[in-house]
Amino acid sequence: MTSETTDSKKVIIVIGAGVIGLTTALRIQETGKYHVTIIAETLPSDPLTIRYTSQWAGAIHSGSSHAYVDEAHPKQSEIDSETFKIMWDLSAPGSEAERCFKRLTKKSYYGESKAKPYLLESMPDFRYMDAGELVEGSVEGVSFSTFTIDVPIYLNYLLSRFLAHGGAIVRGQVQHVSQVMEDGIGPFTGAKNSCKPAAVVACVGLGARFLGGIEDKNVTAIRGQTILLRAPWVDECIHTYDGPLSYVIPRRSGDVVIGGTYVKDDWYPLARLETRKEILARILKLYPKIAPPEIRAIREPAVEDIEPIIIEDRCGLRPGRKQGIRIDVDTSGAVPLVLNYGHGGYGYISSWGSASVALELLDGALDKKT
Ligand SMILES: Cc1cc2nc3c(=O)[nH]c(=O)nc-3n(C[C@H](O)[C@H](O)[C@H](O)COP(=O)(O)OP(=O)(O)OC[C@H]3O[C@@H](n4cnc5c(N)ncnc54)[C@H](O)[C@@H]3O)c2cc1C
Ligand SMILES: *[C@@H]1O[C@H](CO)[C@@H](O)[C@H](O)[C@H]1NC(C)=O
Repeated sequence: MTSETTDSKKVIIVIGAGVIGLTTALRIQETGKYHVTIIAETLPSDPLTIRYTSQWAGAIHSGSSHAYVDEAHPKQSEIDSETFKIMWDLSAPGSEAERCFKRLTKKSYYGESKAKPYLLESMPDFRYMDAGELVEGSVEGVSFSTFTIDVPIYLNYLLSRFLAHGGAIVRGQVQHVSQVMEDGIGPFTGAKNSCKPAAVVACVGLGARFLGGIEDKNVTAIRGQTILLRAPWVDECIHTYDGPLSYVIPRRSGDVVIGGTYVKDDWYPLARLETRKEILARILKLYPKIAPPEIRAIREPAVEDIEPIIIEDRCGLRPGRKQGIRIDVDTSGAVPLVLNYGHGGYGYISSWGSASVALELLDGALDKKT
């Protein structure tokens, strides 16, 4: 069989079903020009695993990924703002995806004054905070409207939207990209008559360090430890960017993610007890409102008051890459290989925009061939 189906749509295979693989697959599918199949080792409905970063994120759209990037992709600002616009609409009251998001006020605190005009000034309801609102250790603070993402629900929303539009999903661990470039998903389903794709798109997160044909050793884990709490009284997001990364990220469900840590080249896959204690003390000091209101009504809250509302200790590995996201096309193989990985601590913030860049490269590579 060839790479065209009976309705003459080209077959595209996306490797990876994290937020990047799912969003990229949807972008490609929604052009109407392609049949898209996702092959992945881990899917959104699986039990949590360290091998799948997207389930561990907070997650918040901070307006920009600038805080996380050493050497950003040249289109990074456009990528982040395109993503914000799309997800802001998805989070609107009445939207089909509304339940995946919580719109709220985000308060960000900085240890140094930012260059003006500051890049977040275009965010909805943006303002600089008064000196009296600042937290210890900060000299500047900004407040604006954005949304948090309830990631397990959102990932399943993306997956169901992809399936509802005719997408296919296959579970498999690819050892080398050539395995799917030559014979599509056939080798992974046991089907006798499989189909060579027109192109393959690799959205493999940390897997880019190991997957044959990519093996990008610039990709490494940036470990983040967090604690999931039940605290439905919290309705704003708090974030400090200097010193240890500290944040409070409430979800629509009433669960709240507090954290965190940001440690490069640390691959330890479980929560560390001493880090947990340190996070609890740090967040209680930064934001005493994390403690139950009935306690705060009678006395100063202590770390012990938070213990009963803890759901789980967590830890995830961000797919970091010093050079920023790699969105690229490699035409040296049997079919074009589009790459979209290395989103570090900003995969949600940049998901839709980086999928658009990947789609442009895919369209370009296929137009050139025909
Ligand atoms: C504690 C923490 C907090 C975070 N907070 C935020 C936040 O607030 N905002 C934000 O934007 N981002 C946040 N992030 C970052 C975000 O989670 C990541 O950038 C994002 O999840 C990366 O997605 P991905 O799809 O590239 O990778 P993954 O989610 O890891 O998905 C990779 C996919 O590729 C598959 N795969 C890999 N190799 C192979 C192979 N060889 N064969 C088959 N399949 C393969 C995997 O099975 C999986 O399906 C946070 C991360 C952590 C850890
Ligand atoms: C890895 O980083 C080095 C140094 O920045 C760079 O020269 C090289 O091209 C990078 N490799 C990949 C695959 O991006």
